[in-house]
Amino acid sequence: MSKDRVLSGMRPTGALHLGHYHGALKNWVRLQSELECFYFVADWHALTTHYESREVIEKNVYEMVIDWLAAGLDPAQCTMFLQSRIPEHAELFTLLAMGTPIGWLERVPTYKDQQEKLKDKDLSTYGFLGYPLLQAADILIYKAKYVPVGEDQASHVELTREAARRFNHLYGREPDFEERVTACLLKLGKDSAKRLEKSRKVFQETGDQKALEGAMGFVATTPLLDARERERLEGWFRGTGKAVLTEPQVLLTAASKLPGLDGAKMSKSYNNSIAIREDRASIEQKVRRMPTDPARVKRTDPGDPLKCPVWQFHLVYSDEGTRQWVTTGCTTAGIGCLECKQPVIDGILAEQQPMLERAEPYVANPRIVRDIVDAGTDRARVTARETMRDVREAMGLNY
Ligand code: TRP
Ligand code: SF4
Repeated sequence: MSKDRVLSGMRPTGALHLGHYHGALKNWVRLQSELECFYFVADWHALTTHYESREVIEKNVYEMVIDWLAAGLDPAQCTMFLQSRIPEHAELFTLLAMGTPIGWLERVPTYKDQQEKLKDKDLSTYGFLGYPLLQAADILIYKAKYVPVGEDQASHVELTREAARRFNHLYGREPDFEERVTACLLKLGKDSAKRLEKSRKVFQETGDQKALEGAMGFVATTPLLDARERERLEGWFRGTGKAVLTEPQVLLTAASKLPGLDGAKMSKSYNNSIAIREDRASIEQKVRRMPTDPARVKRTDPGDPLKCPVWQFHLVYSDEGTRQWVTTGCTTAGIGCLECKQPVIDGILAEQQPMLERAEPYVANPRIVRDIVDAGTDRARVTARETMRDVREAMGLNY
């Protein structure tokens, strides 16, 4: 049985930091041993906002993959690839664009938000408006079932679902659909076919979800059908035609537990971040300079951890005993802030040690990183091409 597929991407616009690690990457690493995972460098997406600064992207494509490897992504367990090496993404984007109302894109919340936020950039471009549809193509081309992203991207996955639904509705009917369905039913044997026909009737007349679930469970697991036949039968059962494209689900990653050094969201552009691979001295210096509860002007002033960004770091890096020590020490002015910060420094350094070690061979020999991406791209391309064959056929483009 093949595992469900997961797909996610990141834009190579800067070195990854601990916010990325605790917000997304750690989750990616966990998923790679559970499901079939495809992770890609979204360099075209980076261009939608950085079309005037290509050097940023160039610099960060392979650096970001090294960060992934440092964080524990394993090329033997997941597929890592580069978006722009698979032009099929652009082909699907173009084809989806034909039937996508502009209003769908204008209504995506990130469209206006980002234009507001990134005022120094002119984002009234065609590419930026189309960004979520390109993302839909990224997802649909791999028939991904799950998309692990943060809350801010949920609306893009929703648009992806709408695009898939619309595509299936417009193009999901094969010319000889009925005969093909009959052939699938024959494969299943008389009894199963009868049962399916009966529960299809129930479902289509009453909308009975139990009937749907039962049938879908059977169709999804029977060894008598291949993947295309399963899709066809599913479409027949639901009455929607063949599902050429699969509607994905968002796997919401909890917002990063780790804020920036100043308590705001960690972001390179806010100058409040620590990179995934940062040198020791710089980490020590940054944490020592972190702002603390403003009430602690003097060493003898008591403070409140809940008003201090350092506390958020203790929640990620310290054990219960240390946290107890912080709470007591802070509220009674028993410890100084520098003292309080030391376990955080130690925690970050301990977390980074294995990452630095994992990154070392790749930094020393960037060729290996390119080879990993090349191999992953070749693997991803096989699936992308298969989907495009189906898509072209469904749209009648195979003349
Ligand atoms: N838009 C995503 C981000 O900014 C990156 C991305 C591009 C992506 N294509 C994707 C994420 C497909 C998940 C699936 O973070
Ligand atoms: Fe913050 Fe710790 Fe200082 Fe309290 S003692 S203000 S928690 S750094």
